[in-house]
Formats: sequence, structure tokens, C-alpha cells
Amino acid sequence: MSKIAIIITTILIAIGSVPFALAAMARAVPSSHTRIHIIQDMDNQPKFRAQHANPLFADGRAMRPPVAGTVARGQLEADDHYDRGVVDDGWATTFPPQVQVNLDLVYRGQDRFNIYCTPCHGYAGYGDGMVNKRAMELVNLGLNGTTWVQPKNMHEQLIREQPVGQTFNTITNGVRNMSGYAAQIPVEDRWAIVAYVKALQRSQTADLNDLPPDQRIDLPTIRLHPETP
Ligand code: HEC
Repeated sequence: MSKIAIIITTILIAIGSVPFALAAMARAVPSSHTRIHIIQDMDNQPKFRAQHANPLFADGRAMRPPVAGTVARGQLEADDHYDRGVVDDGWATTFPPQVQVNLDLVYRGQDRFNIYCTPCHGYAGYGDGMVNKRAMELVNLGLNGTTWVQPKNMHEQLIREQPVGQTFNTITNGVRNMSGYAAQIPVEDRWAIVAYVKALQRSQTADLNDLPPDQRIDLPTIRLHPETP
């Protein structure tokens, strides 16, 4: 190969590697610019954002005030007992009248509890769900400086004795390190979960004598959770 051909080949290889180098840099270096977006697929569309200007309206505001005289309906959350679990400035000790406490409610609560609460609190509520197991593994490995506050054991006396309104509030707004579930779980389902939590708590201190005599015979052998006091 002639000298000139070697030089040209070297230059071409150097230029050819530039796109790869740029791609590698884009992946590794943080940037405040929006990433290059070649195929738009309607990902970015013109719109007005909150608190921005819109010349279409006389007052130049993109956000429109409510029509004068509008009255909100349906989503006011005006019922302290039902919406907040509060009665006379204290935690409600009873279920609100809108909630029918029956077996259907408890089953609904079990269904929702198993979806939303078991990852942390575990199926039996001892605070030993899969998320907790994984987090404890990471803590023990000392990886990434992981810290973890263990989900509460719902069978601790203090938690067991909490009024239903307080449990409702914990689900709604969260408590300390636990976040609230108001956005995911509608009010009636939160009450159903409260009913199930109460049943779950009661179940761990249940005694054979709690059953009517005619139902005691066919009871399968039950192994209590190892942490049951
Ligand atoms: C992502 C994990 C996680 C999920 C999911 C979760 N919790 Fe918790 N929960 C926690 C943690 C952590 C605490 C303890 C917080 C603390 O002590 O800082 C806690 C505490 C509690 C307590 C004790 C409250 C108190 O007064 O000390 C109750 C009751 C409770 N959770 C119920 C629930 C219910 C019911 C659900 C399902 C709707 C749920 N939790 C879902 C992590 C979770």
C-alpha cells in the first residue's frame, strides 16, 4: 500500500469513529440540553403550561380561572369521618355509616391489602414482605450505603390498639417513612383494608374458644407465625 493510501485510510478511520465517540459521550456525560429526538412520534407537542402566557385570552394567561358562580360537586371530601377517619377532632373508633361492615368488605380488604401492603408488611402483616427482605439483604451487604426503616409489625400492641380512623389515616396520608396511598386506593377500598387489617390483627391472638363449639371440630391444624407472642 502506498504511503498516501495509508494516510487516507487512517484519517477515514479516525473520522469514522467520531459518531461512536459522540454517542458514547452522550451516554456518559450529563447534560442540561434536551436529548436529540429524531423520530418525534407526537412525543413533543405544542401546549400551554401552567403559569405561562397565552396571547389568545385578553388577560394573557394560559390558566383559566373558574367560571364565576361555579360550585364544586362530588370531590369535596367534606365528610370528616368518611374521608379522614376523624370524629370530634379525634381518630374515629367506628366505621363511618357509609361503610357496611360485613364479610364482603373484609374480603375486598384482603384483596386490596394483598396487592398494596404485602410487598412491605408481608401477607400476615409482620413487616416481613419481599421488599423488606430485599432491603435487608442490601443493608447487610452494605451496598450503596442503603439504609432501611423496617415496615411496622401490625401485631405490636401499640398498632393493634390503634382506632380504625388512625389506620385509615395511615393508609391515606402515610406515616413517617411510609408514603400515603390516597392516590392509588379509593376511599371505600381504604376502609375495606382497615377492616381486613383489624381482622388480621384479631386473628393472631385468636383462641379456639373464640369459635362456636360446632365449628371447632373440622379446624385444620394451624401453625401460628413464629413471632406471635
Ligand atoms: C413501601 C413499603 C410499604 C408499603 C407498601 C406499605 N407500608 Fe405501611 N409502613 C411502612 C413502613 C416503613 C412503616 C414504618 C414507618 C416508620 O416507622 O417510619 C409502615 C407503618 C405502617 C403502620 C404503622 C403506623 C404507625 O402508627 O406506626 C401501619 C398500620 C401500616 N404501615 C399499614 C399499611 C397498610 C394498610 C398498607 C397498604 C395499604 C401499607 N402499610 C403499605 C412501609 C410500607
